[in-house]
Amino acid sequence: MSRFVQFALFAFFALAAFVAVVRAEDKFYDEDGKEISFFDSEIGDPDFEEDQQEKRSLNIRGKSSFGMAKRSLRKTEELFTHGPDEKETLWVNGVKITWYASQDLKNPACGNGSWDPKNSHHIGAVMKGWEHGPSCGDFIRLCNPRISRCVRVRIVDECAACKSNHVDLTKSAFKRLATTGTLDEGLTTGLTMWLSSKPNPWDLSLFGPFKLQ
Ligand SMILES: *[C@@H]1O[C@H](CO)[C@@H](O)[C@H](O)[C@H]1NC(C)=O
Repeated sequence: MSRFVQFALFAFFALAAFVAVVRAEDKFYDEDGKEISFFDSEIGDPDFEEDQQEKRSLNIRGKSSFGMAKRSLRKTEELFTHGPDEKETLWVNGVKITWYASQDLKNPACGNGSWDPKNSHHIGAVMKGWEHGPSCGDFIRLCNPRISRCVRVRIVDECAACKSNHVDLTKSAFKRLATTGTLDEGLTTGLTMWLSSKPNPWDLSLFGPFKLQ
């Protein structure tokens, strides 16, 4: 083997080893021990009421395009409203949900300091120190039996005005669980809460960065 070939081989394996070490640091595993794959839809859950300005622009688009938006919306709805999964266990009955939005979502108590959830995320806030309840980073599944719908949500914030059995949600998550399917009622009761697992694949635009702190 020539010196050059030896060197080239050495360089190749050294690089391969380096890449393996660097990549190993970025690996995360789900509850089944499978490596979590991450993707960024950049959309999250599109079913939420944006601020006034965007609502207006939607109206300007006219009837026909609005109809199309509605159709595709129905499709995405199925993506987010199934469950509970086989392995999920019932946590508590009689849960109340409310919603919070936009500015209030910023700088969540369990955040990493520079990540801000949006209305299109599926995240929520609960009281600090809910005994036997979920805390920072936990995944829960909320189901509204009256409309046979569930949404998986990640707890990333604290809700000062909440007591136990109360989850404050983003508009997108709330709307899918609200009995009327709108934000109008502001509050929905009688939900079941299930202990859920980490999503795999994991949409960064839905659940935020893997590492919160
Ligand atoms: C926090 O998470 C965001 C989004 O993933 C990332 O861009 C940022 O670099 C993170 N910040 C820190 C301090 O880890």
